[in-house]
Amino acid sequence: MNDDLVVDTPRGPITLRRERPEDAGFLEALFRHCALDVLELAAVAPAIKEQLVRTQLGSQTATYRTQYPDARFDIVERDGAPIGRLIVDRGTDCGCVVDIALMPEHRGSGLGRTIMKHVVGRFARDGRPVQCQVLRTNEASLRMCLAAGFVPVAGDWASVQLEWRPREPAVGAATQAASDHPETPARP
Ligand SMILES: CC(C)(COP(=O)(O)OP(=O)(O)OC[C@H]1O[C@@H](n2cnc3c(N)ncnc32)[C@H](O)[C@@H]1OP(=O)(O)O)[C@@H](O)C(=O)NCCC(=O)NCCS
Repeated sequence: MNDDLVVDTPRGPITLRRERPEDAGFLEALFRHCALDVLELAAVAPAIKEQLVRTQLGSQTATYRTQYPDARFDIVERDGAPIGRLIVDRGTDCGCVVDIALMPEHRGSGLGRTIMKHVVGRFARDGRPVQCQVLRTNEASLRMCLAAGFVPVAGDWASVQLEWRPREPAVGAATQAASDHPETPARP
């Protein structure tokens, strides 16, 4: 069954399609960029950085699959070519954006926030909140989340927990709903 999702962006549509085994090479390249971004801040010799990346390579997806077995693992495609990944867990009470990452040449043009707004829209339809965790040093990700309507709800020295919540229905809408369903008494 094809359950691809198409997201409109100012630069044309992108597609979110399920990860496949043959995406391993692309995911490795993407992981390498992201890991090196983080390690850039560390005062570590290049050879050690390379060794750290190699150690973590491959284990990231395996860890996500173990921690979020029911999540949707998508490749972000533009014009049929992979440009990023998105992992979203529907959860029970609250969803979770497990990971979002774009290749460097596709960053900084608003694509990240467009994807996050799309994710929020998916949860809005169910009237459910969604969370994500971001390193405090990851300013681009923090700004992307804030732009998509997430707000900080918790955190520690290293990371911030952000949450998007659906709006409470307006009082008028609640009253209308109550009169549409008279068996449900309206709250004062
Ligand atoms: C996080 C990520 C997905 C954001 O995607 P994006 O398309 O670049 O995001 P947007 O363009 O919608 O927004 C990025 C915001 O961060 C800002 N930004 C971009 N690079 C930045 C940097 N190096 N430092 C500080 N801010 C930065 C942009 O100016 C923009 O903010 P503004 O519109 O308020 O000016 C992308 O940067 C990425 O793939 N990063 C590597 C992986 C990663 O960190 N994932 C997040 C895990 S939680």
